Parts: sequence; C-alpha cells; structure tokens
Amino acid sequence: MKLSYVERLRSMAAAGSSTVVCLLGLTGCHSYPPPTPLDQLTAQQTRGHEVFEQHCSLCHYDRSDGSLHGPSLLSMYKKPYLHSGAPANDDRVTETILHGHNLMPAQPNMDPEDLNDLLAYLHTL
Ligand code: HEC
Repeated sequence: MKLSYVERLRSMAAAGSSTVVCLLGLTGCHSYPPPTPLDQLTAQQTRGHEVFEQHCSLCHYDRSDGSLHGPSLLSMYKKPYLHSGAPANDDRVTETILHGHNLMPAQPNMDPEDLNDLLAYLHTL
C-alpha cells in the first residue's frame, strides 16, 4: 500500500526526525531567542553587519529562516551544530569563510578585522 505524504511524514516523525517534526510544526523550530535588533548592536557588531551585507547576504539569510544559495545563518551560534554537522564555533566558521565549503566559495582575502567584526555580528543572530 502506498502511504500518503502526510502519513509518511508522520511515520518519519515518529522515527525521531526532528526536521520532519519541524515541518509539521509540532514542536518549536523557533525555540531560539530572536536576533538582537539591529538598532541595539554594538559598534563592532554593526560593522560586522555591514561585512555580512557585503560578503554573505548574496547567499545567506541572516535574520530569517530558509535557504538562499546556502543555509540560513539565523541562530547559527545558538545551535550546537552548523548545517554540515560541524560544531558551531568561531574556528569552524572562520575556516568555512577563508577556505570555503563545498559550494561555498572561499574568501581567503577577507581582512582579519572585518572577519572579527563579522563573527561578532553572527553571534547576535
Ligand atoms: C556564493 C554563495 C555564498 C557566499 C557569498 C557565502 N556562502 Fe556560506 N555557504 C554557501 C553554500 C552553498 C553553503 C553550503 C555548503 C555546503 O554544501 O555545505 C554555505 C555554508 C555556510 C556555512 C555552514 C558551514 C557548515 O559547516 O555547515 C556557514 C557558517 C556559512 N556558509 C557562512 C558564510 C558567511 C559568514 C559568509 C560571508 C563571509 C558566506 N557564508 C558567504 C554559499 C555562500
């Protein structure tokens, strides 16, 4: 017998797939605290937001869910793992930016200060 789409989602949810549970809206996908409002950012975080707009916003949403070319970075440091399953920490994110990751192009020439400011901003998401 062919299961309906919803039935299949249900059985996957029962099997413990949190993504599917999210899709069904049964539990909080949005259980993380919201990003710091832009008008409450420190000077460094505000500079980091500008770096984000310049170097990342083409491919990533920062303040909303959903993928663009890459996964949304909303709540990225509030979750234990990045999209790939790698730990969400500055070392890993710095490496991703400088060396790229699969379809994400490397940005090896990013100014170290810009990178620091950017990381500070990403922590507010
Ligand atoms: C040209 C598009 C593009 C740009 C520009 C871009 N990214 Fe990405 N990014 C991607 C794609 C595509 C992925 C998914 C890569 C994969 O398959 O794992 C990704 C993945 C990531 C990940 C998740 C890595 C992981 O281990 O899961 C982080 C964090 C990230 N990008 C941050 C950034 C930041 C910060 C910037 C700005 C400096 C940026 N990206 C710029 C396309 C882009």
